[in-house]
Amino acid sequence: MKEESLSQTIERRQPAQDLANQWHRVIGRRSFLHGAGAAGALLPAGKLLAQDDNNDKKLSKGDAAILRFLAAAEIIETDLWQQYNELGGVNGGNPSYIQALQNLDGDMPQYITDNTDDEISHAAFLNAYLMSKGAQPVNLDAFRRLPSSKATGAKNIGRLTNLLRLDVDTSWWTRYRSMQNPDLGATFPQAVNIRNQPAIPLDDTDTPPSGALTATQTRRIQAIANTAAFHFAFIEQGGSSLYSTLSLQASDVEVLRIVVSIGGVEVDHFSIWHDKAGNAVSTPLAPLTDPESGVTFPVFPQSEDLQPNKILPEPCAFLRPNLPACSVIRPTSTHNAGAVAAVQAFRDDLLFQGQPQAFFDTLMDLATAADAAKRGGD
Ligand SMILES: [Fe+2]
Ligand SMILES: [Fe+2]
Repeated sequence: MKEESLSQTIERRQPAQDLANQWHRVIGRRSFLHGAGAAGALLPAGKLLAQDDNNDKKLSKGDAAILRFLAAAEIIETDLWQQYNELGGVNGGNPSYIQALQNLDGDMPQYITDNTDDEISHAAFLNAYLMSKGAQPVNLDAFRRLPSSKATGAKNIGRLTNLLRLDVDTSWWTRYRSMQNPDLGATFPQAVNIRNQPAIPLDDTDTPPSGALTATQTRRIQAIANTAAFHFAFIEQGGSSLYSTLSLQASDVEVLRIVVSIGGVEVDHFSIWHDKAGNAVSTPLAPLTDPESGVTFPVFPQSEDLQPNKILPEPCAFLRPNLPACSVIRPTSTHNAGAVAAVQAFRDDLLFQGQPQAFFDTLMDLATAADAAKRGGD
């Protein structure tokens, strides 16, 4: 017979009742510390949790501003992910685009659909939470007027975001491979120069519905899919930094819980897309040049700053230069990664190309209020 380990013995001897008792002690202690007193400590755990659900507490101005900006960011994310999903998701309507995405990784359509679902849930939750607290939700419907792709599979509806011509900032690639930190002043070069490039097919010239693509069309659609892969990671690393940054300004613990819980999923997304983008700069897909735009995806060397499979964050300078390097999300300063910085990054990406000034003003008002939120403020 196999000998059991100490932890197995403890587990065997600890019946469920012991765990329940232990849980009561934790709840009781917390309630006592929060002034519920001895009577509160004796209530069943379920009752105490229900009392602790925070439902009647109003949001501070700062917390409402943080959640409102995040709701706007999620509505924007939802809009762009839906465009990717219509063409390249599991039920996507553009076989040539799907094929090019699958050349990067066979699971791309599934990941695109799941990422889209996540963003829809983030936006819906944040607005519902705001309303549950009597706070104003966010609605950007008035600005859904940018054109859709004309390629087979895309719905012909008004959009908030433009994916037909992007300048994709790829410096996140070199930033996460570096031991330097933008919050301590470091800057990073682009990994790939993606300028003026679509991330979805523009029309059926890019992806003939027959699926019979010429060699030139095949290179074109692959370059578009590669651009998408880098753009996915650009968006989600931005979300990772934004949520980490705004979490530092939340006052209420439940608001903090929302921000870190959604933020963790943004990090999860980033990691997946970072891995997929690596296939766009590795053989056999690379080297590749878009025959129309000239955007080129080279084969990246096995060097510290570019190696494709170094997708986990390199430990870097953090907080102060005299502390040891630490593997962290970066940047996380308000200046580099707060709400205003996020709007500016989206704008530089050309994501809002074609939107009127009123759109930026709306977003900037929300962003400024969020960045002004202070932990413990009103
Ligand atoms: Fe999200
Ligand atoms: Fe996201």
